Amino acid sequence: MKNLSNTEKRGSFGSKFGVIAAAAGSAVGLGNIWKFPYIAGQNGGGAFLLVYLVLLIAIGAPIMISEFMIGRETRKNPVGAFKILAPTSSWKWVGIMGVIASVFILAFYSTVAGWTLEYIRLAVTNQFLNLDSESLRLLFQNFTASPTLPIFWQILFLFLTCIIVMAGIEKGIERYAKYLMPILFILIIMLCIRSLTLPNAAKGLSFLFNPDFSKIDSNVILRALGQVFFSLSLGMGTLITYGSYIQNKVKLPEIAIKVSLTDSLVAILAGIAIFPAVFAFGFAPTEGTGLVFVVLPQVFNSMPMGQIFAIFFFLLLAVAAITSSISLLEVIVAYLIEEYNLKRKLATIISISISLFLGLICTMSFAPNSVFMIGGVNFFDVLDYLTSNIMLPLGGLCIVVFVGWRLNKSVILRQLEVNPDKSIPVWVKGLLFIIRYIAPLAILSVFLNSLGVF
Ligand code: TRP
Repeated sequence: MKNLSNTEKRGSFGSKFGVIAAAAGSAVGLGNIWKFPYIAGQNGGGAFLLVYLVLLIAIGAPIMISEFMIGRETRKNPVGAFKILAPTSSWKWVGIMGVIASVFILAFYSTVAGWTLEYIRLAVTNQFLNLDSESLRLLFQNFTASPTLPIFWQILFLFLTCIIVMAGIEKGIERYAKYLMPILFILIIMLCIRSLTLPNAAKGLSFLFNPDFSKIDSNVILRALGQVFFSLSLGMGTLITYGSYIQNKVKLPEIAIKVSLTDSLVAILAGIAIFPAVFAFGFAPTEGTGLVFVVLPQVFNSMPMGQIFAIFFFLLLAVAAITSSISLLEVIVAYLIEEYNLKRKLATIISISISLFLGLICTMSFAPNSVFMIGGVNFFDVLDYLTSNIMLPLGGLCIVVFVGWRLNKSVILRQLEVNPDKSIPVWVKGLLFIIRYIAPLAILSVFLNSLGVF
């Protein structure tokens, strides 16, 4: 709140570390620890990882910088930001699509976050100790199939998210992210060590790191693109909103690179913790949404003081989920506050209610013979697929096209702290080239490719 004349009322992140912690807090979440392993497992392991990393560098980081620029330049929510930079144009619809995507993601995200709360309870009451692989799978299936308990945890999770967002930016988001995420990181490393010393660990490592190029097809590429967007929180204005809270003296590319690296490191470590165990305990990497929840308990079972590890792990995973869901909720809340002049409290309650409504449908769609299926796919998977693989990349495409082709170059140079009177440094030229040409063409060709055009 200190240095920003035009943002007295909006609040801002207090320090550079605070920005990184909050942005990494948004990025690092269930996407890294729950989604990455299960999607990688279903889409070819090493081949997936390779495509993922290429897309992360070519598209992910540049889009992150673009979002930060738009946010910090305008100090607005995504819809308001486009309205300022391109008044009377249709660009604000990119922001609106982002708000809708936030609601959709928050809906299924809170289902999975609720699962982590149940697993804290199971760990505290020591209920997975001594269970074999098949029983662990049944435990997960039975739990998700009867929706009462999952719904209870989902509501509790959304309630917690709500309380933190109501408290506002500096007091809420930053404080929670700063201390707890490093602890989760250390815990994951310990899990990796245990997993790597299991029999058959080499098989899991080779699954994750040995790309089988014949597995790369249009679907794998689309999934990898979707995972980059989901994991980095890109394509719907979360980072426009966060950018609007970043102080002027902070260097945006530095933040983007640090956050992208941290995020992919956590995802890869999660993979190292999980895939060796998958092979050691006779699971299949294609297990699906339940992968982490059925495999990790086995890892805990095979560790000294496994119960303690399990409690802390699921606790911190829930915290990681909260720091991400806060960032999702904040997009909707900032939009309602600024575009409809609502009070923060009311805006939060409205946003949470809509998300909860859709979220309950997601949770209930896991019941056998559930009515919440669309074309044979449950509602949960529909929202997950629709947001990650379509809405976010589409939003990202619009964002880079906007920054590359529509935004005034002086704005870009100002945001990158480049003196417009001197010659433009090579890295800025390179970045602009990626934003104008490489990123849009890459997203477009992944889309066309998955539609079978090539
Ligand atoms: N990136 C988060 C994760 O990996 C999820 C998330 C938070 C997100 N905010 C987002 C995804 C915005 C897409 C867009 O768990």
